[in-house]
Amino acid sequence: MKAMVVFGTRPEAIKMCPLILELHKHRKIETKICVTGQHKEMLAQVMEAFGIKADYNLSVMRDKQTLSMITSSILVGIDELLEKEKPDIVLVHGDTTTSFAAGLSAFYHQIPVGHVEAGLRTHNMQSPFPEEFNRQAVDILSDLYFAPTSKAREQLISEGRLENRIFVTGNTVIDALKTTVRADYENEHLKWAEGSQLILVTAHRRENIGIPMENMFSAIRQVVINNLDVKVIYPIHKNPKVREIASKYLTGCDRIRIIEPLDVFDFHNFINKSYLILTDSGGIQEEAPSLGKPVLVMRDTTERPEGVEAGTLKLIGTSRENIYLETCKLLYDKEVYKLMSHANNPYGDGHASEKIVKLLIEYFM
Ligand code: UD1
Ligand code: UDP
Repeated sequence: MKAMVVFGTRPEAIKMCPLILELHKHRKIETKICVTGQHKEMLAQVMEAFGIKADYNLSVMRDKQTLSMITSSILVGIDELLEKEKPDIVLVHGDTTTSFAAGLSAFYHQIPVGHVEAGLRTHNMQSPFPEEFNRQAVDILSDLYFAPTSKAREQLISEGRLENRIFVTGNTVIDALKTTVRADYENEHLKWAEGSQLILVTAHRRENIGIPMENMFSAIRQVVINNLDVKVIYPIHKNPKVREIASKYLTGCDRIRIIEPLDVFDFHNFINKSYLILTDSGGIQEEAPSLGKPVLVMRDTTERPEGVEAGTLKLIGTSRENIYLETCKLLYDKEVYKLMSHANNPYGDGHASEKIVKLLIEYFM
């Protein structure tokens, strides 16, 4: 059996690399890795961390790329690859434009698509944009669904997908998390933050670029100014639009450090040493509950209700006032903090990749 794994951005890589390592253990499976290169440095960082090399790299990334640019370059680039390799299945992940375009191309070639992290929904096409469309579109054309939770499976069933093609596997990011966090981890930025209430920040969502992101950063600056015990570390996304806004609001304060993106092993350890996390990221909402760290989600919607139900995630929107108030509440109110900081792992037992590979073997051999 031949499987082609396609991914292109940092979070897809973080969640597909554990699966690739598992696929490589099985000699009966020939695995081809195609990266679209929707991300460049941030993708290379993950591949290096996992020691994985791609067979093909479409190198589509351009500065300030548009969605049409990404989609069309991938569609054209992957066309001849699928023709040449003729895999039995194309495995895509989640909700990026890479996943959508690669899934669509496989569908055009009438090659079965396996969707890893299937069934997540906000039911709002504008939030996250364009990810809600991407994941729904991939789920329309997929043949096998690897849902992280039973909620995601139920969602797919309610949309008419075949029950016997939907499997609850947990999320593959938890597989990685088992090995990344170390009690004795050290880093000079964490040394700098020792003794403070460390807030770890990430922000990059397309729909937040502009006023919502200005609100976020201005609220964070205010929190730091008004709370002398607080320090902020922000491993900033490579997107120049994000960097422009951050440089306006978050520079010139000696308790805020903007640093380059961390490798995933470092980042998981940074989560583990933080007091709380402020983010608009998707993946971090899955990781932080496993480490018992409160996450304030600077978005209006989430496709990860399991974390909200578990009590470790709170949706706080993107207004300056609310971000400021909710962050201060967690800094001052120890009871509220305690309630949010229970380690709880709704996203599986760390064996998602093994389960997916076993299912593939059962299906194809
Ligand atoms: C993409 C995904 C989003 C995911 C995010 C993870 C889509 C539409 N968006 O959004 O779902 O949450 O990745 O981070 O699929 N850049 C670099 N180097 C890199 C990566 C990005 O320079 O390694 C810069 C480029 O100028 C690029 C810009 O960032 O044009 C934006 O990248 P893009 O992939 O279009 O959007 P993201 O916001 O990263
Ligand atoms: N991450 C990382 N380095 C960083 C920031 C985040 O490795 O500097 C990891 C994080 O642990 C998570 C993933 O990147 O696994 C989330 O990616 P991102 O926020 O870019 O995308 P999203 O999950 O929102 O699609």
